[in-house]
Amino acid sequence: MWHPEPVVRHSIPEARWPTAEEAAQSLLFRPVRVGRVELESRTWVPAMVPWRATEDGFVTRENLEWYGRFAAGRPGALVVEATGIRDVPSGPLLRIGHDRFLPGLCELVEVVRRESGGRTRLFIQLIDFLNVKRRPERAKFFERFLDVSDRHRRALAELFDDKVWLERDEGEVRTFLKDAPEEVVERVLDGRELESLRFGYRERVTDTQLEHVRELPRVLPGLFADAARRARAAGFDGVELHYAHAYTMASFLSRRNARADGYGGSPERRVRLPLEVYRAVRAEVGDDYTVGVRFLGDEVIEGGSRIEDAAFYAAEFARAGFDFLSVSKGGKFEDAKQPKVGQAVYPYTGRSGYECMPTVLSDALGPFGRNLPLSREVKRAVNDAGFRTPVVAAGGVGTFELAEEILRRGDADIVGAARQSLADPDWFRKARAGRGAEVRRCTYTNYCEALDQTHKQVTCKLWDREGLTEPGASLSTDGRRRLLPPKWEVMSDE
Ligand SMILES: Cc1cc2nc3c(=O)[nH]c(=O)nc-3n(C[C@H](O)[C@H](O)[C@H](O)COP(=O)(O)O)c2cc1C
Ligand code: SF4
Repeated sequence: MWHPEPVVRHSIPEARWPTAEEAAQSLLFRPVRVGRVELESRTWVPAMVPWRATEDGFVTRENLEWYGRFAAGRPGALVVEATGIRDVPSGPLLRIGHDRFLPGLCELVEVVRRESGGRTRLFIQLIDFLNVKRRPERAKFFERFLDVSDRHRRALAELFDDKVWLERDEGEVRTFLKDAPEEVVERVLDGRELESLRFGYRERVTDTQLEHVRELPRVLPGLFADAARRARAAGFDGVELHYAHAYTMASFLSRRNARADGYGGSPERRVRLPLEVYRAVRAEVGDDYTVGVRFLGDEVIEGGSRIEDAAFYAAEFARAGFDFLSVSKGGKFEDAKQPKVGQAVYPYTGRSGYECMPTVLSDALGPFGRNLPLSREVKRAVNDAGFRTPVVAAGGVGTFELAEEILRRGDADIVGAARQSLADPDWFRKARAGRGAEVRRCTYTNYCEALDQTHKQVTCKLWDREGLTEPGASLSTDGRRRLLPPKWEVMSDE
């Protein structure tokens, strides 16, 4: 796991929990309007992929239990994991790219309504992503994947000062490169080919030589709109368009997007497709449905977008009519670690990944509320443009005091807590009931994120070995971990 150097090891801060009376007076437990719906409180569980869908993207019993368990903690809003909008295989991630996914999604909505007593609003995150292949074996790459051309022959001829290379057939070039020393390979392959060899082939939105990439601006508005229509039909209270992290829409917003077709270059052009997608979604679901966005306050990569870009996008998003803006940070492929052969590059392994889900192995700033300067700027840009669109902040928020301070200072309107809610989905409810002392507190060491990285069912180290023999406890595929935190015995209700 990447961490800053020199590293500063932080402990989780002491927490002072409110009494029930203090909680009742707090900003955190005050309602807020988000588009067409009202959240009962300003508490929010951001999207977290739990790796529990079927291989072909259907909702499973484990998904229902997972979302039901978060709903039992009654957050103001719960966002369902990044859910694929296309009808293409994408492993055990939820999908919404066809009507056949509707029955499972409807059931998920029902479970959340039931478990939260109708008090949690449920959104679903809609995602598109481009192709990412696993890192190939070296021999296979040279035998099959490398597209041998005269550029390679010329490079070899120049390198060895021998024109005979210009006449060599494809098979000879492949065989030679397969066993060639690294210095030779480095001089013959271009940057993208080297990346494909070392990290696995990965498409970019700038690969406009590929028809399906060139056509993204024509295809994506319809795909997102269809997905949003299904979300509404399934009963979700709204959708969150995923314009953050390493995925297609974030790549359009990126400063690194140099597309020359009117969808890249200046900030106005980079935001064009994200706005066209929004308009298509809005036209499909109507004005009386909540449509929000998650995007990056900072990409945290060389040449990437910074807070100035995000502030501009935020004002544009608010003007267009988005109902909420959820701010995240980093989580990019560009600085990710090299994966092992046979594995795909994972966008949360470098510095930008660290900034997305910061741990206690940090720098002087530490992980707690680390991303608040971004939501603060986003909120200011929205307000300066004359809008009141609510802003959601997340990143290292695990205490009532910090959540309350965020709202008091006006750094955001709603407080998201992903890992703290995984550690203890009842934590908001406990705080509200004056029983904060019972909160199981996240230690921010990212055991859960490591499971996500290896596509294992996500659990929390604070509870996944407890009561494995408890009747009815669902266990991980290897039978060694429980999949849900133990129930909290609610003695008195709010
Ligand atoms: C296991 C795991 C899965 C995640 N999956 C998603 C996701 O599907 N979509 C998303 O926007 N963020 C995802 N995130 C990021 C979180 O939503 C959140 O932004 C991040 O963890 C920082 O907040 P926290 O400090 O409260 O955990 C994920 C985080 C974790 C730990
Ligand atoms: S495993 Fe649990 S304690 Fe560790 S970071 Fe994840 S949620 Fe927090």
